[in-house]
Amino acid sequence: MSKAKVTVVGAGNVGATAAQRIVEKQLADVCLIDIVEGLPQGKALDMMQSAATEGFDTQIVGTNDYVDTANSDVVVITAGIARKPGMSRDDLLKTNASIVGSVTEQIVAHSPNCIIIVVSNPLDVMTQLAFNKSGFDSKRVVGMAGVLDASRYARFIAEALNCSIKDVRAMVLGGHGDTMVPVPQYTTVNGISITELLPAEKIKEINDRTRHGGAEIVKHLKTGSAYYAPSASAVAMVEAILLDSGRILPACALLKGEYGVNDLYCGVPVELGKNGVQRVIELPLNETELAELQASVKAVKELSSEIA
Ligand code: LAC
Repeated sequence: MSKAKVTVVGAGNVGATAAQRIVEKQLADVCLIDIVEGLPQGKALDMMQSAATEGFDTQIVGTNDYVDTANSDVVVITAGIARKPGMSRDDLLKTNASIVGSVTEQIVAHSPNCIIIVVSNPLDVMTQLAFNKSGFDSKRVVGMAGVLDASRYARFIAEALNCSIKDVRAMVLGGHGDTMVPVPQYTTVNGISITELLPAEKIKEINDRTRHGGAEIVKHLKTGSAYYAPSASAVAMVEAILLDSGRILPACALLKGEYGVNDLYCGVPVELGKNGVQRVIELPLNETELAELQASVKAVKELSSEIA
């Protein structure tokens, strides 16, 4: 059986850590690409030199040339800049739009059959942009955010209940930003909704912490943002696709009427397998959840219109 190939675009903290997780789990050979000369090469070489100790047979190469990304099965796009002092969100949006746009064109030229997972921020808008640039069926372009947001939500619930994280299944819908929608009724501990296990005020507090989970880490790190949980989340999606597991995970997918939304990328539960997004799952929502989701959709649309 030939090994799968995954390209990770961007050798920063999220990209390099995602690459490391993929080779250590022996999911696929990895091509790590970045525009900075030497950075992906050095990190790839360093990771290969951990293979004897970690015991993996998968290979990783670092490159600055898109020719080396050819025929990838999955491509994870982490490229882009983080906001620096004095920069507006507008500046970040426009700079990353131009980076993600050109990365997508080069990826598509060399791997016409790949599945693209977008990780760059602002996530929902960047995923929509990659879809528009790629010319791919929307099944083959998906964004990573719901897995991360749900993973943070699950951690805070396990902490509050002092229960095993293994029993917690969390659901977060909407855009990857302040308007995201944690959904308590579909968030369970071994099948029991957290609405049965935690008081409403505590759930509200945890929901708020989840919405600002990324910012809480930026505040600690000061010069960067999270990467352990973001990379783990992207790799969970890579794994579901490569193993064709059909896992149901929250992810940023193109909505075509589901949840009353048309032609917009937004966070919803999807089935992930070898064809990419094989199904969008439409959950029955109560009035509050629906109103929160509509507000989140509006925020994504507004941001999207800034680069239209
Ligand atoms: C976060 C950023 C990286 O949520 O999107 O941590």
